Amino acid sequence: LQLLSRSGWLRSIRWVPEVDSTNRLAKSIADQADQPTPLLIVAKSQTQGRGRLGRSWFSDSGTLTFSLMLAAPQLAVDRTRWPQLALVAGLAVCDVVGEVVEPVAVQLKWPNDVYLAGGKVAGVLIETAGRDNDHVVIGIGLNVATDLTKAPPEVRQRARSIRDYADHAVETFAILPEIIDRIALRIAAWRTDSAAIADDFSKVCLLRGRRVAIETAGQTLQGVCLGIDGEGALRVRRDDGEVVEVRSGEVVRWSD
Ligand code: BTN
Repeated sequence: LQLLSRSGWLRSIRWVPEVDSTNRLAKSIADQADQPTPLLIVAKSQTQGRGRLGRSWFSDSGTLTFSLMLAAPQLAVDRTRWPQLALVAGLAVCDVVGEVVEPVAVQLKWPNDVYLAGGKVAGVLIETAGRDNDHVVIGIGLNVATDLTKAPPEVRQRARSIRDYADHAVETFAILPEIIDRIALRIAAWRTDSAAIADDFSKVCLLRGRRVAIETAGQTLQGVCLGIDGEGALRVRRDDGEVVEVRSGEVVRWSD
């Protein structure tokens, strides 16, 4: 834990042996007055991890599960931009995982999944917290040494674990300090130049150039993914030639 504060960015660190969800715990802490932030909550064991769209997140003792909570003044960006933190945090995870599994490629599936060798290795869940929704919680689940043979079949099929692709043993918590440092760096860069994430994201965009089907606003949109724009929206060329920006949604299918 000493190592985690090496960049001096974090103001508070909570290590919890067992918790239902680090995001839920962060949100309950945000309701109490004057919590020093950035606050990091790391769980040794998470029993009811939450995913996007009401899904659950599978973990075992090899899964790194943590939440980082920041207060609005620290971010100093308009709240409408907070959802972009999924891309910012995803890029930071991509940087670090990429170094561990090199030369295997690590990519991002818009908006919040990190992909390794055709499967999901990490997910990011952004939530607002606090009485005035003046905090943001960045929850990250990363399969570092997760034993996917014990996971439910649907997870086993779609997920990947770093340990199956690294040429050396990887310890669950060893890469956390590096991830925290990268998130801090990437947030600082994004605050001053949000459009820069579009370039970085494009380099590791899993969907770029592929045909995609996206569920958005109750409709399924189909076309070819062109990458993301400076605001983090997915750019898609529909079959009628029109280019549209999708701000929120779920990519349900994509071509190889
Ligand atoms: C997703 O892929 O839909 C997002 C998964 C996010 C999982 C992490 S694990 C740590 C944090 N606490 C939670 O309950 N969820 C996030």
